[in-house]
Amino acid sequence: MLIKKAEQIKSSEITPKDIYQQRRQFLKTSVNLGVGLTASGLFATHAGDVFAGYGLKSLKYSKNNKYNINEALTKYKDVTTYNNFYEFGASKSSPAATAHVLTTEPWSIKVEGLVEKPAVYNLEDFVNAQTLEERVYRLRCVERWSMVIPWLGFPLAELIKKVKPTSKAKFVEFSTLYRPEEMHGQRRGVLAWPYIEGLRLDEAMNPLAFLAVGLYGEVLPNQNGAPIRLVVPWKYGFKSIKSIVKIRFTEQQPVSSWTRSAPREYGFYSNVNPDVDHPRWSQRRERRIGEFFKRKTLMFNGYADEVAHLYKNMDLTKYF
Ligand code: MTE
Repeated sequence: MLIKKAEQIKSSEITPKDIYQQRRQFLKTSVNLGVGLTASGLFATHAGDVFAGYGLKSLKYSKNNKYNINEALTKYKDVTTYNNFYEFGASKSSPAATAHVLTTEPWSIKVEGLVEKPAVYNLEDFVNAQTLEERVYRLRCVERWSMVIPWLGFPLAELIKKVKPTSKAKFVEFSTLYRPEEMHGQRRGVLAWPYIEGLRLDEAMNPLAFLAVGLYGEVLPNQNGAPIRLVVPWKYGFKSIKSIVKIRFTEQQPVSSWTRSAPREYGFYSNVNPDVDHPRWSQRRERRIGEFFKRKTLMFNGYADEVAHLYKNMDLTKYF
């Protein structure tokens, strides 16, 4: 991955201040008015539509305090303007500048492979069936920066239980939308498209693995992976695949786009691990976006209590 330090973010890479201030003001008003989800639909539409392209639509959710880590949140502006989404270009600023052209409604997800209920599902089939919760997770990018983000969504395990994998299924493979006419990055061969990621089934069933449909109280901005993306907080950020259209259950370990492009650098597991260097840099420290001093990277990104048991007896230098 191309490396750029947080302090190198140019002012031109940041949402214009007037738009940002308008949307903060709007959010405040929404909260005061108690704008929320209508009973019938996933998204409540309201005056926020004037910000079309900025995804300003509120969601109804409850906070899940079990996953609310006690650390300062990364600013909304940084979460939504400093992104990796190669389908919209390789620079950090390009997704925020160009992802508004992505059509996210309607949206379907094809579930296939070793499952009892393979089908093409509408996004609403999953989302309306779930109570959305807010979880504040750390996200640590392999490029040595991290953020703390209030995500809205539901556990991946809930979706998996609904589609019922067969006893043969050992892995889950996720694919991002392939639509080069809207995703300009796909017109170049930077990566093997569509973007693919995978998890072992027991990792996918871990309660931490989360499908996000929003952040900071509103529908996911396109640049953050609208309308639905994975968040796997104990793994490097690239495992958290965006704009998912396909979920396949397999017996074989999937080959992710990053592993395909550089197998020595990006392994299947990609657990955050300060003891295993990336071939080109150490993973011992990270810069929290918005902070000046670097901080120590934690084993499994601080989630060892929840996930270390998944890797018992595995040599994590070999299975990196
Ligand atoms: N998903 C897709 N489809 N394409 C991508 O380029 N980038 C990954 C991940 N998911 C990426 C993706 C990387 S490298 C990171 S660090 C996170 O998304 C960044 O998520 P964020 O921009 O919401 O912070």
